[in-house]
Amino acid sequence: MTFDGSQKVIGKGAQAEVLLYYGFAYKFYKESYPAEWIAFEKKQQQAVNKAGLCSVKYYDTDNPHIIKMDLVEGDQLEKSVFKAPEQAFALLARAFRFVHQADASNTSIPPLASTADFMLTDEEKSQVLPVIERLSQKYKSCICHLDMHFLNIMIPSDAELLADKINYTIIDWMNARLAPPVFDYARTYVIFDEFAKEAVGFYKFF
Ligand SMILES: Nc1ncnc2c1ncn2[C@@H]1O[C@H](COP(=O)(O)OP(=O)(O)O)[C@@H](O)[C@H]1O
Ligand SMILES: [Mg+2]
Repeated sequence: MTFDGSQKVIGKGAQAEVLLYYGFAYKFYKESYPAEWIAFEKKQQQAVNKAGLCSVKYYDTDNPHIIKMDLVEGDQLEKSVFKAPEQAFALLARAFRFVHQADASNTSIPPLASTADFMLTDEEKSQVLPVIERLSQKYKSCICHLDMHFLNIMIPSDAELLADKINYTIIDWMNARLAPPVFDYARTYVIFDEFAKEAVGFYKFF
């Protein structure tokens, strides 16, 4: 896959750059990022397509480190958080509810317990795994996004942010797992606590 120079960077993550090119978005991973994780991300996207959670389709390219995606028009919700914090947090709450109500029967999204020990030390495993097991027995599982924050929710540009009306798209489903919803809320708490301390107070309130 070659680009003719007209591509534009529209997003940046730790492992990939997202480019706009002839009406599609392309996620361009670093060479060092394992190709099997990219294949897993494509499989996850198919599962969320099927569950009705995100209509953005992923397509193969001739380079396993580049995913072609339907373009989501608009901006990250992050851009509106300082202008309209209450509406932004209300939309975040709406997005969580939307994900958690999805039909999870026959989904290929794996249970949290089956992958949670990945890259943990033995000590961490002995702390984390029993908590997952206990809460998974106590509460019903559903699809959890597990990376829900303002950079992974896209809204139309220049639209007035009315949380109960606006069209929005949740992206970046790599971490999605089947688990009780408390894990999704807790994960977002940890993300805010680490990267946006000022958001924590608001988040607790909502
Ligand atoms: N299909 C898409 N259409 C438009 N923009 C996108 C699309 N996918 C990702 N982006 C932009 O690129 C950013 C990073 O993409 P994302 O999939 O969230 O990668 P990461 O895993 O690095 O967070 C997003 O926050 C968004 O702004
Ligand atoms: Mg992201």
